[in-house]
Amino acid sequence: MASRPSNPSPSLLFLFLFMISSGIAAQKTTHLHFYFHETVRGPDATSIVVASLHKNSSTFGDIHVFDNALRESADPSSKLIGRAQGLATSSSLTDLSALTAINLVFTAGELNGSTLSLFGRVEGVTGPDDRSIVGGSGLFRLARGFALSRTVNISSTGYIVEFDVHVKHYY
Ligand SMILES: *[C@@H]1O[C@H](CO)[C@@H](O)[C@H](O)[C@H]1NC(C)=O
Ligand SMILES: *[C@@H]1O[C@H](CO)[C@@H](O)[C@H](O)[C@H]1NC(C)=O
Ligand SMILES: *[C@@H]1O[C@H](CO)[C@@H](O)[C@H](O)[C@H]1NC(C)=O
Repeated sequence: MASRPSNPSPSLLFLFLFMISSGIAAQKTTHLHFYFHETVRGPDATSIVVASLHKNSSTFGDIHVFDNALRESADPSSKLIGRAQGLATSSSLTDLSALTAINLVFTAGELNGSTLSLFGRVEGVTGPDDRSIVGGSGLFRLARGFALSRTVNISSTGYIVEFDVHVKHYY
């Protein structure tokens, strides 16, 4: 019969301390402010309607897929910090609200390669809208939070939407 060690082995002790330390890892709060530039017309369109089977006046059921630029400011020539890749579908029989599912893919600086997953409802074209951040990758693993947005510019070719994203994460 093997005798029981009277003290935990160094490797078990290390594992235990590691589990404690990862259990109380500091939660960080990050605020991101940026502008979403969506071009819906012209040769440089970043958003397309891929399904529109409800041919009457309603937009119900339309599906939009987009790969929009995320920039530092509302100026279309400001620094590119990422892309908003996802879809929106008109999901109300009575108004213009839509369900959106978007990956915010960051490509600049420290956040390069990290993503946030945004899910929720937009009321229409202008906002303000309040949506969930349901997760993330890279520095944003285990992220939870919310994204507030409002449209600051509507032109013949598209929309510019200001975003304030607040997330809690651990990395
Ligand atoms: C769409 O319009 C057509 C022609 O007016 C009509 O026959 C049809 O019922 C409408 N469909 C829906 C879903 O409203
Ligand atoms: C972001 O990361 C990719 C892949 O590692 C790299 O190719 C690219 O140069 C990086 N961009 C910036 C701005 O650091
Ligand atoms: C909206 O954006 C367009 C294109 O950049 C610009 O010409 C126009 O002045 C902007 N309008 C407002 C109200 O900011």
